[in-house]
Amino acid sequence: MAQEHLIVFDTTLRDGEQSPGASMTREEKVRIARQLEKMRVDVIEAGFPAASNGDFEAVRAVAEAIRESTVAGLCRASEKDIARALEAIKPAQSGRIHTFIATSPIHMEKKLRMTPDEVIAAARNAVRFARNGIDNVEFSCEDAGRSELDFLCRIIEAVIKEGAGTINIPDTVGYNVPEQFAERIRLLRERIPNADKVVWSVHCHNDLGLAVANSLAAVMAGARQVECTINGLGERAGNAALEEVVMAVRTRQDIFPCDTRIDTTQIVAASKMVSGITGFPVQPNKAIVGANAFAHESGIHQDGVLKHRETYEIMRAEDVGWNANKLVLGKHSGRTAFKARLKELGMEVDSEQVLNAAFARFKELADKKHEIFDEDIHALMSEDVTTPE
Ligand code: KIV
Ligand code: ZN
Repeated sequence: MAQEHLIVFDTTLRDGEQSPGASMTREEKVRIARQLEKMRVDVIEAGFPAASNGDFEAVRAVAEAIRESTVAGLCRASEKDIARALEAIKPAQSGRIHTFIATSPIHMEKKLRMTPDEVIAAARNAVRFARNGIDNVEFSCEDAGRSELDFLCRIIEAVIKEGAGTINIPDTVGYNVPEQFAERIRLLRERIPNADKVVWSVHCHNDLGLAVANSLAAVMAGARQVECTINGLGERAGNAALEEVVMAVRTRQDIFPCDTRIDTTQIVAASKMVSGITGFPVQPNKAIVGANAFAHESGIHQDGVLKHRETYEIMRAEDVGWNANKLVLGKHSGRTAFKARLKELGMEVDSEQVLNAAFARFKELADKKHEIFDEDIHALMSEDVTTPE
């Protein structure tokens, strides 16, 4: 199947940074941006230049440092914000203005205190103003997940006429479920004139734990840009996790009509870097980047993996940047894994009797400890040799 390109728009440095306690210095942002570039992320959203002088400087530093990825600056639909963002991304080899305004009834009435017509006028003006400064303009309908479809059609049609090249549909409060969100993307693409002239993007939050599922459903419905963050960092419950979106699409090429250009072997390094800089630990059972994501403890699984890794692995640990998968020895482990570990440690045992005795001691110990480490095995084996039965 000829694959289309799925654009990866990483917003770790902007939406990720909006996670309480996750703010980053300029130097930290540049380090992360370089890792994202190395990973071949298409677009790096470096920050919100109008938010503070510090963020302006950070976006500028990222724009100066990065050559291979597009660098985006976020701005409200106001000329002042856009001018500031244009200034910040000026040094970029390839820059993008990402401007947004809220489109849901509750946001327009209670937050913006603007009528729908005023919102459309502000959006048109913002995109026109941005296009005077740069060709690459993305427009986002904030809270699109709770906006009325007819209104979304009106505002999106208007901004496409003004020259927006990417239309982003955020599920800002993580309210949607996959089928409903996909249907929204499908209907917008069907109804809006010239829909095929722009890139459709999605930006999903994880309030119901559905950010990745919603993003993937939207890709099936025609979205060709996914906005995401490393480790799913982001406001409240976070954003769609880049590593999960990328690996779902890569692993299931049998059903996805597109693929990203991400060098997946850089994923674990990026995850560790973001976790180290922000101080946000990665939970051990986190998909792809958690310490246990490729670890097997149960005897049945270990036996299966030792016979053929695909019995219990749908991806290779090495393909996302781990050294290898792990067979963790614990109380659920079986003889096969125990024997394999002995061999790895250079303590191969020929006698079935000695092996049985050692395995029995191992099980005894495993009942008392969460995990059996190599040092435990060394101790256990030397005991076996030196202690008379
Ligand atoms: O969640 C959201 O709506 C956003 C927009 C600014 C894209 O982060
Ligand atoms: Zn967001």
